[in-house]
Amino acid sequence: MKKRFAIVPGDGIGVDVTREAVKTLEAASRRGGFELELEHFELNADRYLETGVTIPPGTHDRFREFDAVYMGAFGDPRVPDSAHARDILLGTRFELDLYINLRPIRCISDRLCPLRDFRAKDIDFTVFRENTEGMYVGMGGIFKKGTPDEVAVQEDVNTRKGVERVIRAAFEYAKAQGKTRVTMADKSNAMRFGHDLWLRCFREVAEEFQGIEAQHLYIDAMAMELIRNPAEFQVIVTCNLFGDIVTDLGAQLQGGLGMAASGNIRPDGTSMFEPVHGSAPPLAGKDKANPFGAVLTAAMMLEHTGLTDAAGWLEQAVAQCLESGTCTEDVGGKLGTAATGDALAALVQGQ
Ligand code: NAD
Ligand code: IPM
Ligand code: MN
Repeated sequence: MKKRFAIVPGDGIGVDVTREAVKTLEAASRRGGFELELEHFELNADRYLETGVTIPPGTHDRFREFDAVYMGAFGDPRVPDSAHARDILLGTRFELDLYINLRPIRCISDRLCPLRDFRAKDIDFTVFRENTEGMYVGMGGIFKKGTPDEVAVQEDVNTRKGVERVIRAAFEYAKAQGKTRVTMADKSNAMRFGHDLWLRCFREVAEEFQGIEAQHLYIDAMAMELIRNPAEFQVIVTCNLFGDIVTDLGAQLQGGLGMAASGNIRPDGTSMFEPVHGSAPPLAGKDKANPFGAVLTAAMMLEHTGLTDAAGWLEQAVAQCLESGTCTEDVGGKLGTAATGDALAALVQGQ
């Protein structure tokens, strides 16, 4: 069996953690006896600053030829408007129509649980973040820029097709996983048009899934509830912007941004996988970044492409390293990024 993955390390610690994720993928291929073809794409701030091109034309079509795409992170202080990140990262989400941003929130060690009254086992839910619409589409404009009369308009775009498909995906996942509740968060009390559509779609789709409780929360209440009682959540579905925010909150429930993994999924096409964190410029190139989120992201990619055993090896390696303190400072260890990655790869390979 052969798998072809496009690898886009990006900027800052995206490069540092992707290197370690690749080590674990290669170790899994040696152990599992499957062939791995990795093609690296140099799409990042350096390249953009050199050439003026964020992403060469045709690159998104090239991505479609792969079994999956893996990205590190994008963002560089020399590019204050994040133009390249928008075209590479958001561009890939939009062009490949990766409508589900799947972000599992699972705390894997009591040591990492930040809430006094809860344990790791209480934090285990999955967020379905809408990934192709909402406030992210870039519709709007600025009028009278830089003057006291400046007007900035940023449209929130919600289509019935877009809203319905991510809600249905959340319910289908709940059904397949034997979950009993799906929670949708919106702000329909204030955003009366777009989020009214969310609420109506949620109620309609829920009708098709008898036996699964359809819970609705306003997003502000959900933020509170995630801290008060995270154990009540099983599956969350929400819009693009709220999903971005609650998954950073969720990352902290797992022990920090360095632990959080995600997949940008199109069920019938090429999907893209990336850790939830950004390029963390102050840590870049210093061998400090936690590679666990990146490796758990590689595990999601293996699982998604049918390599379930190999995905399990990566997950077990992360759990074992955490338990033995073989990890970076942010999660209580003393090792650097590369040494942690070496330890992970050795465990994956079964040494
Ligand atoms: P960030 O995720 O880069 O960092 C937030 C905090 O978490 C920092 O304190 C950082 O040190 C810490 N952190 C993040 N990842 C870590 C890891 N693996 N190990 C240890 N600590 C880690 O977010 P930010 O500071 O808001 O953004 C920095 C840049 O990254 C910006 O340009 C932003 O736009 C970009 N960004 C990109 C992505 C992406 O490409 N997917 C995601 C988020 C932010
Ligand atoms: C994420 C990031 C991106 C987002 C940024 C870099 C545009 O924060 O993947 O969570 O907001 O989606
Ligand atoms: Mn984010």
